[in-house]
Amino acid sequence: MDQTKVFLSEKDMPRQWYNLAADMPNPPLPPLGPDGKPVSPDMLAPVFPMNLIEQEMCTDRWVDIPEEVLGLLMLWRPSPLYRAHRLEKVLGTPARIYYKNEGVSPPGSHKPNTAVPQAWYNKQFGIERLTTETGAGQWGSALAFACALLDLECKVFMVRISFDQKPFRRLMMETWGATCIPSPSPETKAGRDILEKMPDTPGSLGIAISEAIEAAVTDTTGKTRYSLGSVLNHVLLHQTIVGLETKKQLALLGEKQVDVVIGCAGGGSNFSGLAFPFVADKIAGAEIAIIPVEPTSCPTMTRAPYAYDHGDTARMTPLLPMHTLGHTFVPPPIHAGGLRYHGMAPLLSLAITEKLMEPRAYDQLKCYEAAVTWARTEGFISAPETAHAIAAVIDEANKAKEEGKEKVILFNWSGHGLMDLSGYDAYFHDKLVDYPLPEEELQKSLESIKDLPKPEDVAKSLA
Ligand SMILES: Cc1ncc(COP(=O)(O)O)c(C=O)c1O
Repeated sequence: MDQTKVFLSEKDMPRQWYNLAADMPNPPLPPLGPDGKPVSPDMLAPVFPMNLIEQEMCTDRWVDIPEEVLGLLMLWRPSPLYRAHRLEKVLGTPARIYYKNEGVSPPGSHKPNTAVPQAWYNKQFGIERLTTETGAGQWGSALAFACALLDLECKVFMVRISFDQKPFRRLMMETWGATCIPSPSPETKAGRDILEKMPDTPGSLGIAISEAIEAAVTDTTGKTRYSLGSVLNHVLLHQTIVGLETKKQLALLGEKQVDVVIGCAGGGSNFSGLAFPFVADKIAGAEIAIIPVEPTSCPTMTRAPYAYDHGDTARMTPLLPMHTLGHTFVPPPIHAGGLRYHGMAPLLSLAITEKLMEPRAYDQLKCYEAAVTWARTEGFISAPETAHAIAAVIDEANKAKEEGKEKVILFNWSGHGLMDLSGYDAYFHDKLVDYPLPEEELQKSLESIKDLPKPEDVAKSLA
């Protein structure tokens, strides 16, 4: 019988993270400050500790993982790589489908892969308290978990729609000792301003980020910093442990070539973590289709421009070069809360502009259909975000069947959906609808970036 899963031993865990910035054909553009000039590390110092700012700007190909961080990651890592035998059989595909199971971490997703090192670097820097935002609750619970391991205080601003839909996520955060409040909240100026204009808003990640940054930078003790669960270079860097482990596991199975790499993308961290080590192979000449998947309701990669924009609604963050729907974008209330961000990681966005990736968007109903097929074959109940990757995997497996090709399809099973069952309930009772973003709404939201600097001008001025 063919093997179902591969474990690595702890001693075979990667000792370094991989930095794609070192291998990109064109170097990444810098973040810009309010004056339109590249930000200096000092300007970011009130928000992040300097050791993480250095990592954010680092261009080395390999970055050592501190021993103590490795020890903490070993609570659940290395994670198993599975072969989806039963799904393959039901689809009748000649493809071999592999998935990296990131649902085995204590909070249930890939997010602790960066939450733990971020909490560790903050602690090293003498920080006592972290603030953050969370969409679906996965990131907030991951940071709450990491802060519990490192004895840090943690405050989480949770997007209101998810706060209402997912009370158990809040309880997880509280169990790990964090405070969780719905965003927008009256606790910050950013929150109060939004509540005055839109008292019934479902909230958005952009708003929650503004609140969390404000809460960090206004703490006069200087002992609070902000932590972001996706988008930034150092977050993607920490996630590359996923792809690096996967390469070792595929080698153990005798697989020499991967044809398709898939992941869902909200801010881009789980997808990049799996895909970047394979993007390096693609840059070196390998033929691999690398497919990030997003919802049609929040089509950042498939319909939005590559532009400079703020990472948050109140424009507190520097301008980042990325695919963006505009910082004023408030996405429809789909269940995949973690895929409702207006922007996309700059490094992942750059890889898209360099044609190293082929992004795709799926409707909510198709994703739930795929997640149910998955649960009834592979058994695991997927997070609604992860369901987007599964929809693409099924399409690719069916395509391999039509073409009669024995492809190797790999994807990141980014998290379980055991705290997200209300979405499944709505699906089973025909209460879910698709929300493809209307063109007028996209254009209206893009108004917010029309006067911001353009990447091509910045590239010229720096050349
Ligand atoms: C299970 C899961 N997958 C994917 C995502 C999307 O985030 P990212 O694109 O940073 O991986 C989230 C975000 O909350 C998530 O909880």
